[in-house]
This record gives sequence, C-alpha cells and structure tokens, in this order.
Amino acid sequence: MREFVLYARKAVTSSDFPLNDLPGKGGRMDLVARCVCNALWLSHDLRRDACIHIVACGSPNPPKVITFYGSLLRGVSPDERSIASWIKKASKGKNPGIRVRHRQSFQELISELAADGRFFYVLHEKGKDIEDVNLKEDAVFILGDHLGLPVKEESFVTRFPHEKISLGTTAYLASQCITIINYILDRRK
Ligand SMILES: C[S@@+](CC[C@H](N)C(=O)[O-])C[C@H]1O[C@@H](n2cnc3c(N)ncnc32)[C@H](O)[C@@H]1O
Repeated sequence: MREFVLYARKAVTSSDFPLNDLPGKGGRMDLVARCVCNALWLSHDLRRDACIHIVACGSPNPPKVITFYGSLLRGVSPDERSIASWIKKASKGKNPGIRVRHRQSFQELISELAADGRFFYVLHEKGKDIEDVNLKEDAVFILGDHLGLPVKEESFVTRFPHEKISLGTTAYLASQCITIINYILDRRK
C-alpha cells in the first residue's frame, strides 16, 4: 500500500474547532484536509491502495494519529470542509475508513510501520533528486507541514531503511508534494 505520513504540528487535537476557521482555530486543518484529498482522491474515484496518517501535534491533547484509508472511506467528499468535518467526528468511530489513535506519537507510528518492514522516503528539498530514485511503490512517504519536519523526528526515521528524496529546489506545499508523488508513481507503474 502507498502510505503518506504528514507531521502537522499545529493541527488541533480536539473536535471543537470551527469549520469556518480551519487555518486559524483549526491549527492549519485546511492544509491537513488538502493533503488527505490529494493523497486519496482521483476524479470520481478513491485510491483504494493508499492511506494517509496525520500526526496532529496541536493543543489540547497531542499527539494524535488520524488515518484515512482510501479502500474503506464512506460518505466523505474531497472538499476541505467535508474532510475537516470528518476529522471532527473521527473519534466517534462512525466511518470505517477513518481511524484515530489518541496519544500515539510520530515515533510510535514510524516504529509500528518499520516493524511491518516498510521502507521510508523522507521528502526534503535537500534530498536525492527523485529523477535518480527507483521509487518503491509500497513505501511510506513522510512530509512536514508549513513549518517542515522537526529535525528530531527526521533523525528518528534514519534508524530504519529510508532515503531522503527531493522534488527539486522549489519549496512546494505538502499537499502539492503528495500530488507529485502520486503522479510520478502512477506514471512509472
Ligand atoms: C511547505 S514545505 C515546508 C517548508 C519549510 N520551510 C521547511 O523548511 O521544511 C512542507 C513539506 O513539503 C515537503 N517539500 C516541499 N518542497 C519539497 C521539495 N522540493 N522536495 C521534497 N520535499 C518537499 C517537505 O516534506 C516539507 O517539510
């Protein structure tokens, strides 16, 4: 399965953020929702071979991992408001395609994936040019948010099989990076 991990250091970890202020009181939940959309949606379909883990590290109860599975999602639209509203009600367990793990940290998630034998790609402008990388299809792609991935978390990933890869010297939005990765993998398949 193609997996994405987004480290969202400001994303709020309670359900009482307003849908009309995703960037502010939501702690950049707009960014999170765009990443979910770009990871899983196609035109008139979902990527059933993909999932995205959001590591929410904002107040009041960090950390929390919210995972969206393309194969299991029901009743979610690809717009930011719909995705954010499902994040708000994720803890109620009403959608089989959304799983919440309270108090699970980035490092715990990475350790769990590593124990399953997964290979990690850390997305970073200063990594190896993706043009020169023979990308594995069933890998885990790790991205930072608007503030980037903390150094401590990046160095934790280096304990496991990994490669740091770059999409070029232009700094893209995390959501744009996800689209580019999906596009490249789709084309190379
Ligand atoms: C908006 S960028 C963060 C920029 C932030 N100033 C930094 O220093 O990381 C969000 C994330 O997208 C990914 N990213 C952005 N541009 C990239 C590029 N050219 N190559 C690889 N990854 C990139 C990285 O994972 C980054 O943490």
